[in-house]
Amino acid sequence: MSVVIVVGAQWGDEGKGKVVDLFTERADVVVRYGGGANAGHTLVIDGQKLVTHLVPSGVCHPGKSCVLGDGMVIDPHTLLEELAQCQARGLLAQGELLIGLGAHVILPYHKLVDGLREDHGAKRGQAIGTTRRGIGPAYEMKAARRGVRMRDLLKPDRLRALVGQNLDDLAPVITHLGGTLPSSDEVARWIDAALAAGEQLRPHTGDAGRHVARAIAGGRHVLFEGAQGCLLDLDHGTYPYVTSSSTIAAGACQSAGVGPTQIDAVVGITKAYATRVGEGPFPTELHGDEGERLRKAGGEYGATTGRPRRCGWLDLPALRMGVRLSGMQSLALTKLDVLAGLPEVRVCVAYKLDGRELDEPPTDPEDLVRAEPIYMRFDGWDKLPSAARTIADLPAPARAYVQTISEMAGVPFCLVSVGPDRSETIRLADPFGAR
Ligand code: IMP
Repeated sequence: MSVVIVVGAQWGDEGKGKVVDLFTERADVVVRYGGGANAGHTLVIDGQKLVTHLVPSGVCHPGKSCVLGDGMVIDPHTLLEELAQCQARGLLAQGELLIGLGAHVILPYHKLVDGLREDHGAKRGQAIGTTRRGIGPAYEMKAARRGVRMRDLLKPDRLRALVGQNLDDLAPVITHLGGTLPSSDEVARWIDAALAAGEQLRPHTGDAGRHVARAIAGGRHVLFEGAQGCLLDLDHGTYPYVTSSSTIAAGACQSAGVGPTQIDAVVGITKAYATRVGEGPFPTELHGDEGERLRKAGGEYGATTGRPRRCGWLDLPALRMGVRLSGMQSLALTKLDVLAGLPEVRVCVAYKLDGRELDEPPTDPEDLVRAEPIYMRFDGWDKLPSAARTIADLPAPARAYVQTISEMAGVPFCLVSVGPDRSETIRLADPFGAR
């Protein structure tokens, strides 16, 4: 039995889809544990693209149990659309999906408030750059103990009462932000649609925590699939430019209701360069042609919003922080091939701030904006051999780059991805242990 958590090491979009897909080969249960439809994975199955926001990437392997943990915030309509797309491809056809009844629900008014706050903030230079999927407002209601949960979609009277209470709370906020209050007809339609979605999802709902606990007790391999990245964590990320959930490895235990003593391994995922979507400090960001080149080569456009991602050099202080926050024991390096063809590759090894050298980001975002990256430079390399199966198969500068990152982050690599295809992977260690 092995229980493995996979998390993004920086600001999300580290290429988790491919890595989770590879690890799922050996998993029996795959658990998504935080956030909601703000995440996006592009999966390619038999040459056909499938974009998932809520369903775990493990869905591509028929017969694996896919769980949405109680710590998530779920848009039931998005989930139904994904379920239909998966089933049209013959996936999730045998009831493999289990949705925690305690997971919170995103309703149209959460998205309305998210969008209004962003528009209002943008006018004052205070936008977060959220995905506008209602994530923040849903977690706010949860913390205020007024949230709507999956189980409430199955109880019409309870749902109506909760929605009424939520809208009473939010009406002054909507008005203050310049929004239009929904009419009673519109609210009635929202409720009817949510109840209908609840009925459709009912066969997939249950006690997710006990299901996962039983799987662990029964000696099954369980994989927790993180969404976003460690530096978007609500408590430890670059606040306020973060998401509203716990994205670090500890969030897996919290969300799924599993004790930390049950976890065997934590794997971090880092891209060979850095990206960020939305606002917030990003010391190694590349502007102009250099940034555009990485964006194009890496296809760095959000799977959820289509927004162009901000691109820059790999930031080791940020990576070290991710490693520390999640207790990563190994790293998976993705998209090394994207750097091929550059005359020179840089990696930020520390920051300079007020005459001091820092090996991790300062905690105040204003200080992070002022921090100057200190770079180490590497010769560029040509196309990577897609048949590379060991580090020794890589060109010398790429080898030096990989070895330096591992040494400076203080963690070994378990996997290096040299191309988008599953086969284009150097596998160094299996987090589920020897076969
Ligand atoms: P929210 O999660 O929609 O509230 O957005 C808050 C911040 O987290 C914004 O900067 C988003 O761009 C960022 N974010 C949320 N989910 C993801 C993700 O899956 N990948 C990358 N950034 C994300």
